[in-house]
Amino acid sequence: PRMPAPKNEPSRDFVPGSPESRSVSAAIENIRANPREIPHVVNGERIMTADTTRVVEPHAHRSVIGTMAVADETVTKKAIAASLAAAHEWSRTPWWERAAIMLRAGDLAAGKYRDELVAATMTGQSKTFHQSEIDAASEFADFMRYNAHLAQQIYADQPASLPGDINILDQRPLEGFVLAITPFNFTAIGVNLPTTPALMGNTVVWKPAEKAALAAEVTMRVLEEAGLAPGVINLVHGSGAAVSSTAIADPDFAGLTFTGSTAVFRSLWRAVGNNIDTYRSFPRLVGETGGKNAVLVHPTADIDAVRTALVRSAFEYQGQKCSAASRAYIARSVWNKLRDELVDIVRELPVGDPTKHETYVGAVIDRTAADRLQAAFDRANTLDTHERLVGGKTDTATGWFVDPTIYTTTDPTAFTLSEEFFGPLLTVYVYEDSEWDTVLREVDRASGYALTLSVFASDRRAISKALDALRNTAGMTYVNDKPTGALMGQVSFGGGRASGTNDRTGSRLALQRWISPRFIKESL
Ligand code: NAD
Ligand code: ALA
Repeated sequence: PRMPAPKNEPSRDFVPGSPESRSVSAAIENIRANPREIPHVVNGERIMTADTTRVVEPHAHRSVIGTMAVADETVTKKAIAASLAAAHEWSRTPWWERAAIMLRAGDLAAGKYRDELVAATMTGQSKTFHQSEIDAASEFADFMRYNAHLAQQIYADQPASLPGDINILDQRPLEGFVLAITPFNFTAIGVNLPTTPALMGNTVVWKPAEKAALAAEVTMRVLEEAGLAPGVINLVHGSGAAVSSTAIADPDFAGLTFTGSTAVFRSLWRAVGNNIDTYRSFPRLVGETGGKNAVLVHPTADIDAVRTALVRSAFEYQGQKCSAASRAYIARSVWNKLRDELVDIVRELPVGDPTKHETYVGAVIDRTAADRLQAAFDRANTLDTHERLVGGKTDTATGWFVDPTIYTTTDPTAFTLSEEFFGPLLTVYVYEDSEWDTVLREVDRASGYALTLSVFASDRRAISKALDALRNTAGMTYVNDKPTGALMGQVSFGGGRASGTNDRTGSRLALQRWISPRFIKESL
């Protein structure tokens, strides 16, 4: 069987008053008018445990849009048992039948469930129409379709046989269950992490972020309607620490696919290490973690392109993309021409309710995030190496709003150039035009992360030098483009150093991590 050649799912424009705008707005009103229960889904059964928590809109934290079940040890163990019970049949389901389910899920996300997914992501995760559409509709569908296509390449990969022999590569799934832990910031990552191992024949316990519970609830219904058998993906909500400690202590734990913060991934890796003597097999550990992504601007850069890239990559979705720009190194001659206009644009960015068309910047995800940004502003304000150009305030009275903020610093080792704050904070370091070689070293040294990077220059030699000097500084380097917005089929996604295991979402490698090949040689 051959999978259809995938194409990126186009995103809709959402002109105010257009049919798609009205239809998503109606889905939003429906969510607000009918707060729903968000249960665990174990072996197809919906379970509300005794402990629950309220799900609210980050930009209107008095608006309750759901009641989420919180997993206890019993339900986590039930989810593990369901995964193990489903494993035999699912692993023997032909790969093209598994792929057909994923393709169907992609079509449902792009069609019947599109507005509901977009609305759930807007209300639950505070995304604008555009940011939600490119995530919950387009990238969701793209992951399903491109992964099916990549799976076909893997299963087609068979060894040669001489006359008298048959050689077979049996692409087995792992033995045991896979734990998928997903972040709040992309509904598409929510569906991609559990479905990738499932596509390759594994069964999964999926623990989504508490702050993306509503989108996860809709996602699970999409997968079920697409034909996913009970027990293949078991959804448990609640504390990542509680669910993962039960799962990682289980001898049948076969792998972890995690996207989230570096600190949490390190703690999970340690827990796996502590249990290593108890497992049947060495577990696979895949992690995509934090970023401190730089935009590096040479004196020969196109200033208009730099301005657009900075505004979009630092402030779209409130800077809450792992790929977001949060530090910029700008040549003095460019900065002198760019500074005032950039500051004016950022000061005027409309902050507010993302379900209103005029909003560009919604709320950050929760109080912890707003407090983290306020603490960074307070700390920077005490340093005479820092100057605040715009923003620098939070307003949490009705929602978790943080001003789009720019500081400059004269200190290349500043905390604002090294730490991830995961919010709308950009720090600019201005270097002298003649100091390209020095600034390359500073970009590499300032932070331990290595996820995305942009280099803006028209001088070919400067670009080549940067690509060489910054070879290990990022898993994705964009030349004359912003560091956000990786498109499936073009950019495979991943980072090294503190940004993760670099297992490249959107490539064959991401799927290959979930199989354990067996070679069979039969002499006839
Ligand atoms: P997070 O680490 O707080 O949470 C991620 C997931 O881990 C959630 O499901 C959470 O419930 C769970 N979790 C939290 N504490 C845990 C613990 N002690 N043990 C086990 N699980 C635990 O991250 P977040 O706030 O959801 O997402 C933001 C982070 O994710 C940022 O650092 C961002 O850079 C990163 N991220 C990376 C990528 C990437 O592809 N590299 C993509 C998206 C987000
Ligand atoms: N895939 C997202 C981006 O590239 C994280 O911005």
